[in-house]
Amino acid sequence: MKDTSIQAFIQDLPKTELHLHIEGTFEPELMFKIAKRNNLTIPYADVDELKRAYSFNNLQEFLDIYYAGASVLIKEEDFYDLTWAYLTKVHEQNVKHVEIFFDPQTHTDRDVPFEFVMNGIYRALEDGEKQLGISFKLIMSFLRHLDEASAFKTLEQALPYKDKIVAVGLDSSELGNPPSKFKKVFQKALEEGFLTVAHAGEEGPSEYIWEALDLLKVTRIDHGNRCLDDSKLIKRLAEEQMPLTLCPLSNLELKVIKDLKEYPLLKMMEHNLLVTINSDDPAYFGGYMNENFWGITKALNLSKTQIAELAKNGFKASCLSDEKKEAYLNEIELLLENN
Ligand code: ADE
Ligand code: ZN
Repeated sequence: MKDTSIQAFIQDLPKTELHLHIEGTFEPELMFKIAKRNNLTIPYADVDELKRAYSFNNLQEFLDIYYAGASVLIKEEDFYDLTWAYLTKVHEQNVKHVEIFFDPQTHTDRDVPFEFVMNGIYRALEDGEKQLGISFKLIMSFLRHLDEASAFKTLEQALPYKDKIVAVGLDSSELGNPPSKFKKVFQKALEEGFLTVAHAGEEGPSEYIWEALDLLKVTRIDHGNRCLDDSKLIKRLAEEQMPLTLCPLSNLELKVIKDLKEYPLLKMMEHNLLVTINSDDPAYFGGYMNENFWGITKALNLSKTQIAELAKNGFKASCLSDEKKEAYLNEIELLLENN
């Protein structure tokens, strides 16, 4: 099969993105533009120098640069522009539905009001739905390197926006910050009617995945790679059809894996895990949805049937209604038949 034919197939597939940090879509060009209009400086001379700094040995090295980049976001319009730029980009890639994370504490800790963050992102998402036809959900993530009191304060700030935030999540520095640290605040979020998701098993051990399931009562595991160390856990994840939101290029850039050829996707599919493909922080890791799909396709020699399966899993694992899921699954099936 020709590369161009598979690339066109990936492009044409309707796709969903379920693991995406909006702050991780901050492209260097936009970063410099927003820094300039806010009279702020970035400690890099230009876009090229900044891009050269994007070389990471682990999650923490990436997070240090990611938080520094996000520090130029101050006004509501900054959050709008960031989100709008992401939506126009993925619209070109035929992404139909997004469930995106935002990290309020990254901004409120710098005295940016919660409502600026919330309103800027949300207005762009609404415009994206109207103008680009991309449906959406918003997930508020707690930073796990901060304490639970800070997460509680953030949850309080989110309560007036309950109708606009579907779930709470957990991200940032994983090692040493297990899900159990946030048990109480997740319990409160559940009582308030939020769904819960959590990053677990990216760098952290399989025990963190058990904790996310049993203590935080998550409906999705973000990453979850380390489940493969634990056969009991694999069995449970498969039985429950618990979605894993995998991020291949992120895992490669953060040295979770050495080479995409070693990506354990096929092994996970053989275990009947509900695996989805996502981009995590595309501005930092060299690609959006198509590039992630193409990266694993090349490395693992995936067939169109397998690629279609992955796209279908994205819809199955989403918060879309059963009716919408069905419509997208049929569309993918039809595309596969005609290819
Ligand atoms: N925040 C942004 N990207 C992240 C990742 N891959 N893991 C944990 N926290 C993050
Ligand atoms: Zn992530």
